[in-house]
Amino acid sequence: MCGIVGAVRREEGVLGALIEGLRVLEYRGYDSSGVAVIKDGRMLVRKKEGRLENLEAALQDGALEGASIGIGHTRWATHGEPSDRNAHPHQGRSGRVALIHNGIFENYLELREELLADGVEFLSETDTEIVAHLIDREMAQGLSLPDAVRAALRRVQGHYAVAVIAEDEPETPLVCARQGPPLVVAATPNAAYLASDVLGLLPHTNKVVYLEDGDVAVLGAGTLQVTDFAGQKVEREEHQIDWKPGDSGLGGWPHYMLKEIHEQPDVLARTTLERMDLDKGDVVIEGGQFGNEAMRAVQRIQVLACGTALHAGMIGRYLIEGLARVPVDVDFASEFRYRNPVLTAGTMALAISQSGETADTLAATRLAKELGAQVACICNSAGSTQVREADEVLLTHAGPEIGVASTKAFTAQVAACVLLAIRLGRAKGTLSADRARELLHGLRNLREQIEHLLSEPVREHIRSLAKQHARAKGFFFLGRGVNFPVALEGALKLKEISYMHAEGYAAGEMKHGPIALIDPGMTIVAVNAPGVVADKVRSNIEQVKSRGGVALSVGSHQGSHKIAGQCIEVPETDEWLSPILNSIPLQLLSYYIADLRGCDIDKPRNLAKSVTVE
Ligand code: F6R
Repeated sequence: MCGIVGAVRREEGVLGALIEGLRVLEYRGYDSSGVAVIKDGRMLVRKKEGRLENLEAALQDGALEGASIGIGHTRWATHGEPSDRNAHPHQGRSGRVALIHNGIFENYLELREELLADGVEFLSETDTEIVAHLIDREMAQGLSLPDAVRAALRRVQGHYAVAVIAEDEPETPLVCARQGPPLVVAATPNAAYLASDVLGLLPHTNKVVYLEDGDVAVLGAGTLQVTDFAGQKVEREEHQIDWKPGDSGLGGWPHYMLKEIHEQPDVLARTTLERMDLDKGDVVIEGGQFGNEAMRAVQRIQVLACGTALHAGMIGRYLIEGLARVPVDVDFASEFRYRNPVLTAGTMALAISQSGETADTLAATRLAKELGAQVACICNSAGSTQVREADEVLLTHAGPEIGVASTKAFTAQVAACVLLAIRLGRAKGTLSADRARELLHGLRNLREQIEHLLSEPVREHIRSLAKQHARAKGFFFLGRGVNFPVALEGALKLKEISYMHAEGYAAGEMKHGPIALIDPGMTIVAVNAPGVVADKVRSNIEQVKSRGGVALSVGSHQGSHKIAGQCIEVPETDEWLSPILNSIPLQLLSYYIADLRGCDIDKPRNLAKSVTVE
């Protein structure tokens, strides 16, 4: 989704900081970019369709150098095609005001009519431009920039984060406001910064303030003041961020996705090791979270998530029902929020999210809370909205994930689900200390097993399989039981980054229809692990093979490997932990296929990293 940055500095030279910030936020996905600065009292704007390089080329004349106030934006089009005209910043009629925006102004059509009647001429097709005109009009009537922003925003409906600058406002150079999508602000002794994502602030400081919905922040060089939309001062706590600026660099890897796949041995260790109590055969979450009393009160769990995080939640359902005997429902957050759901007493809503800012997941969780659920979350972003709004928090500690296709965040979410299932099972007495210890030992061994899966010979083998299958007509990923969601995730990964058609399916369901699609052009990737459904999956592989499909077996089930003919051998682990190991070769397979097809792996077309609109 759109990236927002802004800076005001006592010393000159804000343009470099804006471009650096936009570069850091590139991973969120965008189709155009732009900056506005105030130099010598004049507003100067440059914006360009396409990659940031196009904007940098447009800045080569040096006209914007030396300004000490500015805002920058990467746009992910919602209203109006990607173009120079529709790129942000947008200006009001007088040219005094420039505004950047993430989100949607829902009542923009009626405001547009009003402004047209007022003689305003629109230069773009965006909803954003309307608000630039509204602010401009308020300022023309004598309001200061912060008051004009508050007055304009009181007229709009929707979800948005905005940042605004205006000429002739030396006292209040930079104003931003939040109603939905995230905004983070920070003041240092001689400057102040804002960004839509904490990574955008890390090059300058690790002490940040997360704005809440309804906040308006006024930033000066070294100052920061937060008010509500009525202008009343509000206090917001400063948070210290553990991530370092270097964490979000490529560090010599060709793609973030490959870098992040290789971080998984360490990530899994960070998610799990310090939370294991091997003496007691239990899991201890920091700050007494997920304690016995709270867990014993849980009668049902409602998982709410989107995309990859939803797949982690589906694995969580098998784990929690299997180990803790608590019934679990899993729903797309975007469906849950509009289906008038019924929640029974004792329900814990469990949101799973890498970013903690996904609009659908946040809305669904808020609805569950309204309906009386206790709210827990598994999340990777410590200061995110999801974390701040939850009663119980389990952080995955995967570090910043930049690749649009989620990899390390997913396996960390699954590991967190294992921890939660053990904690619940122990609190409820459905899981013995010995069985919990077996699982914890299994988790501890994962690091070495993942390292093996990432070793050169295994990677080479996967790369050679990728070569054989990169031109397949289509893919089916099949799995059953706890590995069914792994198949869904394998298919999602492949389609996201290689643009090949891939479907994830419950292996036992193939014979009820989709098997009609099987022919020699189709590749069937079957995920299997020794356990209750292993032999069933093997028969399902036989069914597709006998109809001409080309089968590739992934996992540690020798019978499946034999039937399939081609295989990726995965080290053996407890069946409940097998989704973590089985996911890793699927990530690599997608990566290599996408690479062979010449796809832009870290910036797949049409995708955004953090989906902060509905
Ligand atoms: C796919 C992917 C998305 C996200 C989804 C939820 O690789 O990354 O499907 O999983 O948009 O995002 P978060 O986890 O940030 O809520």
